[in-house]
Amino acid sequence: MIKPVLADAISKQINAELYSAYLYLAMSAWADAQGLDGMKNWLYVQYQEESVHGLHLYAYLLDRDAAPAFYPIEKPETSWDSPIAVFEHVARHEAHVTALLNDLATLAMQEKDHATYQFVMWYVNEQVEEEANADKIGKRLGLIGDNKGQLLTLDAELAARTFVNPFPTTGAIPGVA
Ligand SMILES: [Fe+2]
Ligand SMILES: [Fe+2]
Repeated sequence: MIKPVLADAISKQINAELYSAYLYLAMSAWADAQGLDGMKNWLYVQYQEESVHGLHLYAYLLDRDAAPAFYPIEKPETSWDSPIAVFEHVARHEAHVTALLNDLATLAMQEKDHATYQFVMWYVNEQVEEEANADKIGKRLGLIGDNKGQLLTLDAELAARTFVNPFPTTGAIPGVA
């Protein structure tokens, strides 16, 4: 059985992941409205990843015999001034999530829960890639500036991203291939 203080912190992280999913879905809808189908796809894959993070944390709580707590999911922003504004928001948001996960890892360490620490460290390490990806696309958009042709070239690249379940062997998440 996991300590209640850690179970609650994980429940709050589930909420943060589901909020992230919701935010990326809103961004994907915004990209659709702009006719940027590649960006729409990239952000939708991001939505899928965040949903799976939430489910994976949820399954961990059940495995540790804890009842997940449910918190309200905040309404995300739904409009941005430009593609670069979207990716600046992504970068800001991922840096915030990294801080939450670092706090969660610190708490697991303080509570001497090594299994939870190890579990959370997967997320901490994953954030390096998350932040790097957002940063890379943000920088490309900065270089592109007002060049519509180059924006469409980048958009075509973003169309190639596909969702890969990061937890294929756990079997913990029904319905996620
Ligand atoms: Fe996540
Ligand atoms: Fe993320």
